[in-house]
Amino acid sequence: MTDKKPLLKDFPHILHGGDYNPDQWLHMPEKINDDFRLMKLAGCNTFSVGIFSWSQLEPREGVFTFEWLDDILDRLAKDGHNAVLATPSGAKPIWLSDPNEEVRRVRYDRVREASVSRHNFCWSSPLWREKIRIMNTKLAERYGKHPAVKMWHISNELGGDCYCDLCMEGFYKWLEEHYKTLDALNEAYWSAFWSHRYSDWTQVDPRDGTIDASGLDWRRYEAELFVDYFKWEIEPLRRIAPDVPITTNHMGTHKTNHYDWLRPHLDVVSQDMYPGYATEHVDLLGAAAACSYELDYIRCIGGEGKRWFTMECAIDSRGLWGQRFGLKPNGMHGLEMVQHLSHGSEGTLYFQWRKGRGGAEKFHSAVVSHTGDENTRTFKEVQKWSARHPKLDQVIGSINKPEVAIIYDNETDWACDTSEFERARSQWGMEKRFYLSQGQQWHRPFWDRGIGTDVVGYNADWSRYKVVVAPVAYLIDQKRAQKMIDYVRGGGTLIASYYLGVVNETGLCHIDSWPGLGLDQLFGVWSEEFDLFRPHLQLNGKSAVTDMGLAPEFKIDFINGHIHAIDADVLATCEEGLFAGKPMLTRRREGDGAAWYLGSMVDEGGLSSIIGAVCREAGVKSWLPDCEPLAEGLTVQTRYEDGKPIHFLMNFTPIDASMPLAGRTLRNIETDEKIEDALALGPWGNVVAREA
Ligand code: GAL
Repeated sequence: MTDKKPLLKDFPHILHGGDYNPDQWLHMPEKINDDFRLMKLAGCNTFSVGIFSWSQLEPREGVFTFEWLDDILDRLAKDGHNAVLATPSGAKPIWLSDPNEEVRRVRYDRVREASVSRHNFCWSSPLWREKIRIMNTKLAERYGKHPAVKMWHISNELGGDCYCDLCMEGFYKWLEEHYKTLDALNEAYWSAFWSHRYSDWTQVDPRDGTIDASGLDWRRYEAELFVDYFKWEIEPLRRIAPDVPITTNHMGTHKTNHYDWLRPHLDVVSQDMYPGYATEHVDLLGAAAACSYELDYIRCIGGEGKRWFTMECAIDSRGLWGQRFGLKPNGMHGLEMVQHLSHGSEGTLYFQWRKGRGGAEKFHSAVVSHTGDENTRTFKEVQKWSARHPKLDQVIGSINKPEVAIIYDNETDWACDTSEFERARSQWGMEKRFYLSQGQQWHRPFWDRGIGTDVVGYNADWSRYKVVVAPVAYLIDQKRAQKMIDYVRGGGTLIASYYLGVVNETGLCHIDSWPGLGLDQLFGVWSEEFDLFRPHLQLNGKSAVTDMGLAPEFKIDFINGHIHAIDADVLATCEEGLFAGKPMLTRRREGDGAAWYLGSMVDEGGLSSIIGAVCREAGVKSWLPDCEPLAEGLTVQTRYEDGKPIHFLMNFTPIDASMPLAGRTLRNIETDEKIEDALALGPWGNVVAREA
């Protein structure tokens, strides 16, 4: 039996197309006619329609004008294209938002927003919910069986906060349901701090950063509210048109997306991805590796068996006037698209099909520009990509099967974000979302080695991984601690870092030990304290062993941990400063499993050598022997079809490169060429190959 499962039933092809907004062009039918001509020429097959078109579907309350959409969908069907039909809640029609302030969000500073912009309706507003329910019911009734409609797309990039009275009331109720008594909440929040003791649920203010638990619970509440809203939108679609799968476009690990909660309600996962591979990108490799991390994450949102695709990416510049968003170098587009496929994507759609003439995104790149139709450089890049599809289509339905997982946990992200530590860090002018940037930093050495990774949370099945990586696992409750303990006892190799097991689920510091809740025993260390010093003021560290391929010297940067090895091998030590001579890297074995702990943040090369050593010991398969890294800017990702690998070999540099094949003989699936010894890859070169 084959393990191939394409995303769309009976459509084993790469999805290719974009956000299509004919609703902006209804007064110029000749342009719409041209769209249909150009769609074929571009080799596109899938279009997201109706995303921001509420005011064209219902120009006045209760007056519906679906005829233009009937026509567009009929024409898409006639040409054999797929439509991803959106519910139009991404933007509020002014007839609804202007007179009814309840549908508009209240900002953090408690000011009600004006009737402007998009992505800003109130999650709780009964009026908003009533109106979108009417709209979605009509869409489902009218289009649920339309031959073009292959998927529903719910709203657009759902996210963001609303602090209106209705949303706040919901929060107080949520608190009461969770804590039952104010005494329990006061204890969980450590509210004696700065005289916060609450005597009424309504006194809890999630914006009060001095009680970080309130901010953390607000995120949890919002996550549930978000899913509640999502379920509200999909109810008529599921009821009336149950055969049409449902998706919504995520924004990577954006903090307002809530995957564990949302997963059961999604049929297909989709993702918007804008790494900004411009000619003069200051750190293109960093951006490329970070993009891969997010693609791994998105793939894992769905869990086993669910497919995903890229709903939006930029064919060229994101193009906001006056901002530094340059154009992609020649040839980069194909590489970016192959990168998406390499991580399991089943399609690459752009924002946007045609550039609008006005509005905030009129300069944003598009397949069809303001002038030039099919005669533009960009259009030709799109054609170049679709010309590859007939051969590349064979990767559809194959799956990635990494042996390594990196932990990304929403609640830990929120806990870091709301903690004093996060504020201390931003005071140094360092980038926000420390937890996320750490995940990306720890992912990079795998990317450099062509070792595939899943990015998963604590609810995933870790038993399939040889190595689990837990960077900054700051929030540890019983369930999370037990997961780590069971994994190592079951023979897994776990590597964790500074800030492991510092706080519980409401941000209270563990007082049994650091790391807390039994992880001190699992790792065999006591982590006494941390010294945070100015970025770029580095201390030396040194390897304590010579036979593991660890870097002989390390640079300790920003976080220096004071670690005691209670029951663990010391593999590297800190050489200077307050903690000179203390352990920096440790490992404790337990049966076949091992728990590694890195107590200080180290330089890129040092971290890479540690990851190499961990993977070697755990027997992780890599592209080169001995888990050696590839030359800078080269990477490989692998999908499997019935157990057989399909490799994606990529060069993220503007210069010629040679990819060693380490004894493999490959066959390029596009040219059928046999490749032995090494593969020559030109600037931004990319090849998809099977083992010969
Ligand atoms: C996305 C959004 C699109 C468009 C695009 C521009 O985040 O979903 O509607 O605004 O950005 O890059």
